[in-house]
Amino acid sequence: MAMKETGSIRVLLTEEQIQERIRQLGKQITRDYEGKTLLMVGILKGSCMFLCDLAKRVELDVRMDFMSVSSYGSQMTTSGKVQIKKDLENNIKGKDVLIIEDIIDSGMTMSKLLPLLREREPASLRVCTFLDKPSRRQVPLQADYTGFAVEDAFIVGYGLDYDEKYRQLPYVACLEG
Ligand code: IMP
Ligand code: MG
Repeated sequence: MAMKETGSIRVLLTEEQIQERIRQLGKQITRDYEGKTLLMVGILKGSCMFLCDLAKRVELDVRMDFMSVSSYGSQMTTSGKVQIKKDLENNIKGKDVLIIEDIIDSGMTMSKLLPLLREREPASLRVCTFLDKPSRRQVPLQADYTGFAVEDAFIVGYGLDYDEKYRQLPYVACLEG
């Protein structure tokens, strides 16, 4: 697909690499939640592609819900709170909840969101992130499932955007120049 570019983009993860890893994650999640109903909670909008492809590889009774929270570029600090822009439709009390995130960068979003969801008393609460930038962490946070660890670069594609662009790319790239 031709796209008008100012800088260039360098592919970091191909569509094949992504889909292969998602197959593995799907198997792992299927094993870990055997016999349970799994509520997959996608954090909009970045996790949309990952959630859809991952859900197809999870052989369980899967339910889906979505949340939108303030993220990159907001004035969030270690003392601040995450702002919920769109809340869940489901009551998660007693449910097995797996949060699906696009990328964990500073860790701030997740470290604020997790306690907030824990207050709602889910049976279990875990995090599955497509990408992880461990070198950027400002607060200690470890996802339960991680697709890929990536370098400290600005990542786009497969749901991740730069100014709302590039989300539809089937691969992951980093922006250069
Ligand atoms: P954190 O709170 O710093 O961990 O940031 C998490 C959010 O910032 C992610 O859910 C993304 O929406 C956004 N983000 C962080 N790094 C990138 C990136 O490299 N590309 C696109 N979005 C990013
Ligand atoms: Mg996000």
